[in-house]
Amino acid sequence: MKYDFDTLLERKGTSSFKWDTGMDYFGRDDVIPMWVADMDFACAPCVVEAVQKRAAHPIYGYTVRQQSYYDSVMGWLKRRYGFSVSQEYLCFSPPGVIYAINIVVRILTEPGDTVLIPTPNYDSLFDLVTRNGRILAESPMRWENGRYVLDYEDLERKAERAKALIFSSPHNPTGRVWTREELERLTEICMRHDVFMLFDEIHCDFILKENPHTTIGLLGEEVLRHSMVCYSASKGFNLGGLGMATIVLADDDLRQRFKEELSIAQTRLDNVFGAAALMAAYTPEGEAWLDQAIAYVSENKRYLADFLKAHIPQIQLCQAEGTYLVWLDCSGLPYRGMALEHFMINEARVVLSGGYEFGSLGDSFLRMNLACPRSVLREALERMEEAVRKISV
Ligand SMILES: Cc1ncc(COP(=O)(O)O)c(C=O)c1O
Repeated sequence: MKYDFDTLLERKGTSSFKWDTGMDYFGRDDVIPMWVADMDFACAPCVVEAVQKRAAHPIYGYTVRQQSYYDSVMGWLKRRYGFSVSQEYLCFSPPGVIYAINIVVRILTEPGDTVLIPTPNYDSLFDLVTRNGRILAESPMRWENGRYVLDYEDLERKAERAKALIFSSPHNPTGRVWTREELERLTEICMRHDVFMLFDEIHCDFILKENPHTTIGLLGEEVLRHSMVCYSASKGFNLGGLGMATIVLADDDLRQRFKEELSIAQTRLDNVFGAAALMAAYTPEGEAWLDQAIAYVSENKRYLADFLKAHIPQIQLCQAEGTYLVWLDCSGLPYRGMALEHFMINEARVVLSGGYEFGSLGDSFLRMNLACPRSVLREALERMEEAVRKISV
């Protein structure tokens, strides 16, 4: 490998959400944090150089997106996903994807309206529905032939009274990479019931060649007009602290209203370092780094699967098609919900996301972030093995 993913970089003391919150959140500082969805890898060298170069100019004033920024984004979507997006459809959201989804939910729905989300799913998406006074309709997925699938009959029923659907693709937390057929069936249901679709594709850069990502942009103009599609360099290139999201809105009226909201809140300008980082990330050099990071994490997945089989058979890895997050079935352990999460924190000293946070189906699951050096993964698994052994004797 040309890039180094093995070296453990000290993140404590960098105001890291993942590494500097142990005492505040869990009452202890000796945990290995594997919950927050960012990576413990240094960013691509070309990204670091671009940010350093920009930082060397000592004025960090208000920043606009120039044509080169648009070209980077459009070039990336075309090269990586085959999506030729029209420049006029592009909007941006420097605070990130959730900020943009929040705006569109508030534009398109009223308090008391129903928003449909297949579950399990990323908990911030539930929050933005319920805390805005909208009604969350969960559509539980089904576990079929070793993978999660959508329950189309349930979706069809619930779409009748829903105004909007929020959908993560690829899927957080299960790692499912939806096929074109699945997306076509889903969009067909939503279009028939006039349900506006908000597609959160933030994890789409981090997928395997065997399971290619189908962006909603490929499903045709009609689908795109009834959708919002969110992309970001923040997951694939580990830029979460820089704040950025690219939003595709093909509906002219909705796009104008979205821009107006950004303008009112003065959030339309760019993060000075975010712009430099994104343009460096979306180059062939950035892409080469990304492909190696994906290959490294794939090896982590293999290591995890082998380790669980050999040493912790009470925990099973659900089929992990994409993203650096994995969904662990812990039904072989005697804990559920928060107790399961606390068992891992206090007995194994490993912080995993409690599956209960992702909706009603997640009670016996944990989500683990594998974007870390293998030595960190090994240490975490050994701690988990030891904790499970103690309750098994
Ligand atoms: C599916 C999904 N959407 C959105 C986000 C957050 O995106 P942002 O920080 O751009 O708001 C995350 C972060 O983990 C995520 O997993």
